Amino acid sequence: MSYQDLNGLSLEDQVEWYKAAIHSIYDGVLVIDSNEIVRLINLEYTRITGVKPEEIIGKPLRDVRPKAQLPSTLKDGKERIGVYRKEGNVEYVVDMAPIKLQNQIIGAVSICKSLTEVHTLSKELEKNKERLSRLEQQMGSIYQAKYTFDQIIGTNGGLKEVAYLGRKAAESHLPVLIVGESGTGKELFAQAIHNASSRREHPFVPVNCATIPASLMESELFGYAEGTFTSAKKGGKLGLFEVANHGTIFLDEIGELPYDLQAKLLRVLSENTIRRVGEARERPIDVRIIAATNRDLHQLMEKRLFREDLFYRLNVLNLKIPPLKERKQDIEEIVYFILNKHTNHLQQESGYVLHESTIAILEAYEWVGNVRELKNTIDYAICMANGKEIYPEHLPSNFSKSTPVEQQGAVSTSLREAVEATEKMVIMKNLARHGSALDAKKETARTLGISLATLYNKMKKYQIGEF
Ligand SMILES: Nc1ncnc2c1ncn2[C@@H]1O[C@H](COP(=O)(O)OP(=O)(O)OP(=O)(O)O)[C@@H](O)[C@H]1O
Ligand SMILES: [Mg+2]
Repeated sequence: MSYQDLNGLSLEDQVEWYKAAIHSIYDGVLVIDSNEIVRLINLEYTRITGVKPEEIIGKPLRDVRPKAQLPSTLKDGKERIGVYRKEGNVEYVVDMAPIKLQNQIIGAVSICKSLTEVHTLSKELEKNKERLSRLEQQMGSIYQAKYTFDQIIGTNGGLKEVAYLGRKAAESHLPVLIVGESGTGKELFAQAIHNASSRREHPFVPVNCATIPASLMESELFGYAEGTFTSAKKGGKLGLFEVANHGTIFLDEIGELPYDLQAKLLRVLSENTIRRVGEARERPIDVRIIAATNRDLHQLMEKRLFREDLFYRLNVLNLKIPPLKERKQDIEEIVYFILNKHTNHLQQESGYVLHESTIAILEAYEWVGNVRELKNTIDYAICMANGKEIYPEHLPSNFSKSTPVEQQGAVSTSLREAVEATEKMVIMKNLARHGSALDAKKETARTLGISLATLYNKMKKYQIGEF
């Protein structure tokens, strides 16, 4: 309201109006005239200093408050900011300024702020800081990567080289693209890279681009400003990129990222900033991106479903994880790693053993679901086993439906090899079923319609150990 707006009021009412305004100020106010006489104090001044209007108004300031510095401001015309004062138990700070009219100093004003309130506010701030750090800790434990490179088992079929590249990737902040069939360990690698990097104390945020609806994807990734949607949260919403700040964001199934968002992701990669939906300002962000896919991105690029510029930006370090069928020599080690996990809280071996025939069957299998399928298979077998030894019959039913040869695709195998592989498997399965004693071998030979001697010969030929 300007001065003129009060014109309709009588002079008295105008004075009352200004008084009311000054009394409503939440800081203490004291005004002196050019003769150092106190002309005005407000309610808050009395509350802070305990000095009542009748004790001070109309009197020279220094008569009532000998240590007051306001007369000096009146004299030299200089502001004095943040002067500390203590009145009994009350602490406060004072800002002092001259009052000027047409370049003449006509008085001075002092504004007091009680420190008691500042103390209360700083206590509150302290409490909120604690809450924030607790929340940050909780968030840290939600978004924590648990796997390390030590838990990546196997060295064959190129896995060793991929692990080496992964460790190298951990030393840098460059984007990583992990490619591999389902269940080959893409997320395992992403977590291991994060945990081996300098970002390990910060969040690892996994995002599955295939499961977030396209319409929500942008606000999930980048957040939104308050009031953007009718259902928007007060204060807006933090996007996953902001949650991952200083850490790693794992964009799983990147091939499913909607095309328009691919451009926005590219911007994040090149500018290191994000923009919340409905907000104009860019926020700086420091996030390492690890993307993964089991799809052929080249094919998607040809179909214009994946942006080439984004591909080249992400594909700085490319980790191609070989499927399990290309590293069958790793199967036994992985199986024992899984078996031992069943008691690893005791740091002991689990005591489970795989019968040789079981290993042969596992090694002959196709493993379309890779290590995840192997894990599930072993969990099933542990559940089915009666003791600590795992026989082929403890494996899920799909392992008995086909012979190893059928699984490998008999088309490329000679008939003799196919017959031999089948013969070996049938013998192993029967030996496993009947046991290792002499009687059991006799029973096996009888079931198979061969003599005991032939059985022994065939066991030798196929290097089937003593059962
Ligand atoms: N080399 C390995 N050594 C030990 N465990 C492994 C290995 N590879 C994968 N695993 C385990 O197999 C399971 C599947 O791995 P992960 O989830 O990382 O695969 P993925 O490639 O991300 O699969 P998807 O494409 O289906 O998402 C996990 O339990 C993981 O710990
Ligand atoms: Mg995965």
